[in-house]
Amino acid sequence: MTSTALSPLAPARTDAAASTAPAGAAALAVALAIRTDLWADRVEYREESRWTSLLDPAELAPALDPSLHAELHDAQIWLLSWLPGQGTPLHDHGSSAGAFAVARGTLTERVVSRGTGSTPHQSTADLAAGRVRFFGPHYVHQVVNTLHDPAVSVHVYAPRLSLMNTYRIDDSGLVRIGTERAGVDW
Ligand SMILES: [Fe+2]
Repeated sequence: MTSTALSPLAPARTDAAASTAPAGAAALAVALAIRTDLWADRVEYREESRWTSLLDPAELAPALDPSLHAELHDAQIWLLSWLPGQGTPLHDHGSSAGAFAVARGTLTERVVSRGTGSTPHQSTADLAAGRVRFFGPHYVHQVVNTLHDPAVSVHVYAPRLSLMNTYRIDDSGLVRIGTERAGVDW
């Protein structure tokens, strides 16, 4: 496996100039997170790893406000469960933008973005049920259930998620350590 030192990262899309696409994904993620009747009976928890399930936009559309249908048409939607201690490595979402909303429990997100010199900027926040994060392409984060109760979240990606790069941080900065490709690695 090769390691690649990265060029400066694109910042998180949290400013007013951000594309409307991630904001639309956020609206969709929140709308789905609060509609527990659409997914609650599907959720499973797995001791061995996080549980994930793709949601079908066509099935969801009749239950959602029509203003979200355009966003829904282009989106890939995942429902995830997280037992205490389960989480992701540090990763991006390739060229996909998107959003995730916490529907149950609390998840801790660590965000890594461009810093000064070779030192990335890092921030960590606990996201309780009802919280949402949206992001543009190449957003790098790690999400973990650090608390004691199971958590559930809804993730929306547009365009569809095709790969995720994984990272570590060392003295040279943020270093890519792997790439997982849809249809090959998951
Ligand atoms: Fe992610």
